[in-house]
Amino acid sequence: MEAMPYRLDLERQPFQAPIGEVIRGGEATSTDWRNGLPVLGGAQVIMRELRASDAPSLFALLTTEEVTRFISPPPTTVEGFGKFIAWTLRQRTAGTYACFAVTLKGSDTAIGIFQMREMEPGFATGEWGFAIGSPFWGTGVFQEAAELVLAFAFETVGVHRLEARSAVRNGRGNGALRKLGAVQEGLLRKSFLRNGEYLDQVLYAIVDDDWRFSREMSRPIHASRVH
Ligand SMILES: CC(C)(COP(=O)(O)OP(=O)(O)OC[C@H]1O[C@@H](n2cnc3c(N)ncnc32)[C@H](O)[C@@H]1OP(=O)(O)O)[C@@H](O)C(=O)NCCC(=O)NCCS
Repeated sequence: MEAMPYRLDLERQPFQAPIGEVIRGGEATSTDWRNGLPVLGGAQVIMRELRASDAPSLFALLTTEEVTRFISPPPTTVEGFGKFIAWTLRQRTAGTYACFAVTLKGSDTAIGIFQMREMEPGFATGEWGFAIGSPFWGTGVFQEAAELVLAFAFETVGVHRLEARSAVRNGRGNGALRKLGAVQEGLLRKSFLRNGEYLDQVLYAIVDDDWRFSREMSRPIHASRVH
């Protein structure tokens, strides 16, 4: 994921599959998200599709040194963010990518992004990544936003395996992924070029069965108890 954000060069010919329901692994998932992302609501966070008007706040919050230290360089202008946002909408229509704006309840300002892209046609394997403005780090916004996006990935898109890459030196990125239950599967040596230096990355994955199991386990037991 480190290399995914803002990469306008990832654009490819759209792989168009029919819009509607698809059956994967015995479960029906929806492809309607290709027409427009759903709004995902949590206790303090609302996740929604990016809009052109998000460019100024994303530029202000996601171009700081502390945010960009371990991710691909973001656009350097508000206009560049505008182009990135337009790109995300085209990719979503093609069904190869989705990018949510992170907003707080009661304020429509975009304070971060969560994005995922397919690694193979049909999105059975995807890769995700995220960036949030540093004033909002350690506030619980990340955890809530991540859980909403995971539910979207596994239940709506039908992802089977969701990968993430994080530079070994990215303490917060690694801590954030681990606390979501992402499993470290490997070390990608010198796999990410940043500021003229090749960095090692950790490869993480969350698979749908594990995600469903952990979600089931975190539900209150008394709800299913029979007396
Ligand atoms: C990654 C990001 C979205 C996470 O949001 P956040 O609000 O910082 O995350 P949280 O504080 O909820 O979780 C980070 C966890 O890592 C832990 N952590 C912080 N520094 C750490 C370090 N050096 N080593 C290990 N863990 C660390 C925190 O204690 C926290 O765990 P806790 O909640 O159990 O205490 C945010 O830091 C960010 O935007 N970073 C810049 C972009 C980026 O690196 N993206 C990641 C790409 S994989």
